[in-house]
Amino acid sequence: MALAEWIWMNGECVKYADAKVHVTTHAIHYGSSVFEGIRAYATAQGTAVFRLKEHTRRLMHSAKIMRIEMPYTEDQINEAIIETISRNGHDSCYIRPIAFRGAHPNGIQGLEGRTSPVDVAIITMNWGRYLGQEAIEQGVDVQISSWRRMSPGSLTPMGKIGGQYVNSQYITMEARDNGFTEGIALDHTGMVSEGAGENIFVIIEGEVYTPSTGSSILRGITRDSALTILKDLDIPVRYEAVSREMLYIADEIFFTGTAAEITPIRSVDRVKVGIGSRGAITKAVQDAFFGITSGAQPDKYNWLTPVR
Ligand SMILES: Cc1ncc(COP(=O)(O)O)c(C=O)c1O
Repeated sequence: MALAEWIWMNGECVKYADAKVHVTTHAIHYGSSVFEGIRAYATAQGTAVFRLKEHTRRLMHSAKIMRIEMPYTEDQINEAIIETISRNGHDSCYIRPIAFRGAHPNGIQGLEGRTSPVDVAIITMNWGRYLGQEAIEQGVDVQISSWRRMSPGSLTPMGKIGGQYVNSQYITMEARDNGFTEGIALDHTGMVSEGAGENIFVIIEGEVYTPSTGSSILRGITRDSALTILKDLDIPVRYEAVSREMLYIADEIFFTGTAAEITPIRSVDRVKVGIGSRGAITKAVQDAFFGITSGAQPDKYNWLTPVR
């Protein structure tokens, strides 16, 4: 797959090979970065970014949590994202804005890091389905991880902060080593939190449950999109603590995430979910979601920002 030609870095587009940092960069040593994952879709009406404003807003929130002074406004980041996609000529792509504590002129600094400059970059790449097209239709096999999701009070689950993703890496590596597509982490109280990079919805006897922000989740933008779609479909959602055994007796479970989009889960710990294939509510949410992101249905929630 061809790499993008341009990366936006600190206010200008530079060639892919020139978007470099120094080894003393604070974020490499201590995880002091904040980032986003966004998709632009090739809709019937042209390339469009999905929920651009919400992603940039969350980037700003992550920076605020991390005490990173963003050198650009939300509008400037939004414009830079559009410019980078356009300049690279993507029809569809994955977009990774990142802000991080950079290299100090006097070398490695202490942990605190606030004397280091802040660098900002926007990277784009061509990208298909994260868990595969088959996963969208057939579902994925997952395990409950032996790793817990980070607890609030030791870290900040609501921020999308680089260092915190060591937790997600442990969860995914363990799942892959055990032959599963993904792992689901319990929170510090033992209730279901979320996947390594996905939020979770559980359907039991027509009731939809999703863990609340009190369960150490990232407030997913795809989660919010699924909640909007479910509301429109007149399907009520209960924001309740979800126990592990609810996953075993569920009729349907699905993941939401920028990477995973809306992906059904067909087994948990090798226990079949419902009939073992995509359920009716999952399909209804997918139809509405992919209807909008493909441009086949009107963008009634104003989720798409056209690139050109
Ligand atoms: C830990 C975690 N949970 C959930 C999500 C899903 O969030 P979103 O739908 O905004 O991509 C992500 C992806 O960003 C994530 O990294």
